[in-house]
Amino acid sequence: MTEAYDWTNRVGDIWASEWVRTDRSFAGLSRHLDAAVVVATGTDTRTIVDIGCGAGGTSLAIARAIRTAVPRARIVGIDLSSRLIEIARSRVPADDDSGRLVFTCGDVAAAIDDWAPVDLYMSRHGVMFFADPVASFAALARAAAPGATLIFSCFADRAANRWATETTATGGDDDGASGAPVSTAPGPFAFADPDHVDAILTRAGWQTTSPHYVEFAYRAGEGADPVADAVAYFRRIGPAASWIRDAPDDERAARIAHLVTACERYRVGDVVEFPAAAWIWTAHKPVAPCESTTS
Ligand SMILES: C[S@@+](CC[C@H](N)C(=O)[O-])C[C@H]1O[C@@H](n2cnc3c(N)ncnc32)[C@H](O)[C@@H]1O
Repeated sequence: MTEAYDWTNRVGDIWASEWVRTDRSFAGLSRHLDAAVVVATGTDTRTIVDIGCGAGGTSLAIARAIRTAVPRARIVGIDLSSRLIEIARSRVPADDDSGRLVFTCGDVAAAIDDWAPVDLYMSRHGVMFFADPVASFAALARAAAPGATLIFSCFADRAANRWATETTATGGDDDGASGAPVSTAPGPFAFADPDHVDAILTRAGWQTTSPHYVEFAYRAGEGADPVADAVAYFRRIGPAASWIRDAPDDERAARIAHLVTACERYRVGDVVEFPAAAWIWTAHKPVAPCESTTS
């Protein structure tokens, strides 16, 4: 994605202007995540929170999917970026005046008490950027109803995500592939290691189950010139964006050429799709009160 996760400013603004292409790139994953969320939704579900909802793709999809079966459920999307929240609000269908879909700007850990008790949390890749993950997940647990469900996706190991490793010549630097330790600093691959995530969730008071590994096609480009579309996308979002932007002047052309070659390699007909992989986690708040290890 980018080197600095200033979601309230530059990074959030870029994602807001690229929401159509980011939704498209995650479509292959969303099928699996959305299905898991729908299965976890019961007729008595009242409040569903989309953590780091971005432009609202997951909130809108779930609202559509459960409209008939769970008409009283309210879906609340929370995100740090005001620009992304504006986009999400603009996507609520004009004829939906039910108030069931709410989008609000803020840090989810700080905002969550306003929406308690939460029956179901969901997130498509919105949980890997917390500065203090145990504290944030513990805040979510405190605001959850007994027995509440938490379902989220996060990228698996960087090596399985060729959209990240092959679009620059430096791919794999911090995933252990080049001998460096796996990084768990906030970022797209912070939750790649299931043991690390399990420890965070458990310390925060959640009961975990084994995560599901999902491989999907990360669609970076499509249309009449899918390679140009993919290159334009990666020059905005993903590790290639900063790698090219920050290049010395005499290296920039070579870096762009590297990106073009990578996109050509994964072109099939009128699409460019890179191999990608994610974990889908499901956890529950214990029905009986259980002390988390944080205060
Ligand atoms: C990788 S994007 C995913 C966005 C969206 N879920 C999607 O799938 O398109 C991560 C999102 O998490 C949001 N985010 C990160 N930390 C957050 C926090 N502490 N509270 C609320 N939102 C947060 C960011 O603003 C960003 O929109």
